[in-house]
Amino acid sequence: MIFDAGDCDAHEAVHFAHDAATGLSAVIAVHSTRLGPAAGGCRWWAYADDRAALTDALRLSRGMSYKNAMAGLPMGGGKGVIMKRAAAPKTDALLEAFGDVVEGLGGRYVTAEDVGMSDHDMTVIARRTRHVAGLPVSGGAVGGNPGPWTAQGVFVGMRAAVAHKLGRHDFKGVHVAIQGLGSVGGALAEKLAVAGAKLTLADIDEARARGFAARLGGRALAVAEIARVPADVFSPNALGAGLDAATISGLDVAIVAGAANNQLATPDDGARLAARGILYAPDYVINAGGIINVVAEYLGRGDVPAVARAVALIEARLADIFAEAHRSGLSTDAVADAMARRLIGR
Ligand code: NAI
Repeated sequence: MIFDAGDCDAHEAVHFAHDAATGLSAVIAVHSTRLGPAAGGCRWWAYADDRAALTDALRLSRGMSYKNAMAGLPMGGGKGVIMKRAAAPKTDALLEAFGDVVEGLGGRYVTAEDVGMSDHDMTVIARRTRHVAGLPVSGGAVGGNPGPWTAQGVFVGMRAAVAHKLGRHDFKGVHVAIQGLGSVGGALAEKLAVAGAKLTLADIDEARARGFAARLGGRALAVAEIARVPADVFSPNALGAGLDAATISGLDVAIVAGAANNQLATPDDGARLAARGILYAPDYVINAGGIINVVAEYLGRGDVPAVARAVALIEARLADIFAEAHRSGLSTDAVADAMARRLIGR
């Protein structure tokens, strides 16, 4: 029954882990190791029940296979989720127990931080396993906070979208509406300001949006308005910002390009954007800068210039996807999914 469940996609393995001493309940889904060890962060989240945790692990691990394959990384896709419960606080002992589970998989799964986990948490997990990345770094080494690299990937990916859709090769006067000014959105806003873009900015932390707007010369807008403001580009960089039938019908832009994960609420929403003539940069392709940096750290391969070169390739990769979508009449997300599945042999 589970093998036929909607979110099962011939995952190679799904591991369920319990540790009575610490209360750890975790699921690690290994979607594909065809291109290398299954890499993907670990999420700490309050799930309604076990089934919801399993569903999240299955979906997210498939997404990681696609993302890593499209980023040209020698890694497969996997994901860990730890059930956040009052009875099981995130103690060092619990994180170490999770590290033991990861170690027990012998390198088939490589973990890192995701929602609810910090780089400090990774150092605790690293006491028990070396199959962990996203550890704090110093002195210009690769690795550490992936946000700035993700922002750089979104910047060059957005440039590909602007070239394809608007026939422009720079950002001078291009109007970008940014939703979310955190680690990624904030760094992206700064890059776009330097490049001469016109910025409209929103964050649920309104003071933060006003601060960025004052510093970078943009306009701050209420969160409820940002996905409706007339602009050239809408850039979702917040959490839980789904593009569904209602938000898509309210968009007044030519392009959607941002870092937020799982931007399309359903697979139909990619086609909905295309039907409205809006060019969508598939989220897992444009937001791969961070994982490129994290994998370089894990493999101990490459330096900062090498990571920069790999992140720069996101621009050409998206240009290929846009061109193929134009040729085939398919939506950009469908083109990206097909390319990713070819790469992982599915
Ligand atoms: P963050 O937590 O640093 O920033 C998120 C920002 O969005 C915060 O300033 C928050 O106040 C704001 N926000 C939350 N809900 C909002 C809403 N409804 N409207 C407007 N603003 C809202 O997160 P980070 O790291 O910048 O990530 C942003 C998105 O990009 C997330 O969806 C994340 O999953 C995705 N992503 C991040 C990567 C990274 O390297 N940090 C890598 C790939 C994807």
